[in-house]
Amino acid sequence: MFKARFSALSILDSCFYRFSTACSKSLNQYFLADGTVLVMDNAFNVPRSILSKIGKQLHTRNDHPLGIIRNRIEAYFAKSRFLDQGSYFFKCYDNLSPIVSIVDNFDNLCFPSNHPGRSPTDTYYINSNHVLRTHTTAHDVSLMSSQSFIHNGKFITIGDVYRRDEIDSVHYPVFHQVEGVCLFSRPELSFLDKKYEKISSIKVSNIQPEHINNQRNVELVVTDMKREIEGLMKNLFGHDILFEWIPGEFPFTSPSYELEIILNGKRLEVCGCGVLKNSILEKAYGKYHDSSIAWAFGFGLERLAMVLFDIPDIRYFWSEDSRFISQFSENANNNFDDFKPIKFVPLSKYPPNIRDLSFWLSGNAKALDFDHNTVYEIIREEASDLVESAAIVSI
Ligand code: PHE
Repeated sequence: MFKARFSALSILDSCFYRFSTACSKSLNQYFLADGTVLVMDNAFNVPRSILSKIGKQLHTRNDHPLGIIRNRIEAYFAKSRFLDQGSYFFKCYDNLSPIVSIVDNFDNLCFPSNHPGRSPTDTYYINSNHVLRTHTTAHDVSLMSSQSFIHNGKFITIGDVYRRDEIDSVHYPVFHQVEGVCLFSRPELSFLDKKYEKISSIKVSNIQPEHINNQRNVELVVTDMKREIEGLMKNLFGHDILFEWIPGEFPFTSPSYELEIILNGKRLEVCGCGVLKNSILEKAYGKYHDSSIAWAFGFGLERLAMVLFDIPDIRYFWSEDSRFISQFSENANNNFDDFKPIKFVPLSKYPPNIRDLSFWLSGNAKALDFDHNTVYEIIREEASDLVESAAIVSI
């Protein structure tokens, strides 16, 4: 056991060594496949295997399970929602660079300076000012401040996020998140009041000081957020799903929640969410924004896709093996209303490899005397169970 650990560490060491030497040769610059130039400094701690994942954009591949689930989520949020005087939908951003400033990833989101998430043991640093985003929340403030004329405070962001993490079947240092933000202006809040007047609003605690006189509005926003998220989960998994909302804690929301779903008796934590802190809206819109209130959520795509398609290991999502991707191609063209997720069929860990073998039968032998089973036996003896199937092509 100890030996195994030791050898894994020494492999990592040597990777870092080889990589840092390679970097210093090129003036601390590294070119990503999409042409982005990274200027590194001593804070740089991203191994090559992680850099190679940047730009893969698995969530934009229509035949990939992550792309299939993403398309469904996007379609759900693209539908119009009505508020007395008009309607809105969520604008989708799926192509934002995963390299973000520490201001966007942490400072703007009220992460305290000693928050463990900032540590280079948890986060990949490109240089002392830039990281590989650890969550899609990193775009909330900049999208609100620069793009509100397009999305009016209602958008989803989908992308790859990076966290240094343990090794097992449900953790991988790169995964994909969907972020949702929905900002209600003051007039919209009064429309919400009408929309939910028949629904007894839920009681909320941990209301921010700025909202203390607006408790009803916070309740409406939380009600709306929970309905949107539950609606999405039902859309993905059907109506036999149970929800449990648990108090959560994030530096940028208050109140905060986590959602667990219970599906076929199994419990799964799927999402973090809450009411964005007023100080975050101030960063985006200035100090005197019009008392708008926004909800936000974030969840991992892999977790949902693993349940939806019965995929047992998160590493499959990075497989280039056509036997993996081709299993889901029919779902790629499914109409959203009659979507039946294809269940993953395990595949051999060995790469596909087709071999033809030919030989001559001696001059007098009749083809019919040829003993197939003897040939199969020879193959089985030599290659044991590695041979998946053998067939006579022609005689
Ligand atoms: N960014 C959080 C995470 O990655 C999720 C989240 C998003 C929580 C938005 C609240 C609001 O865990």
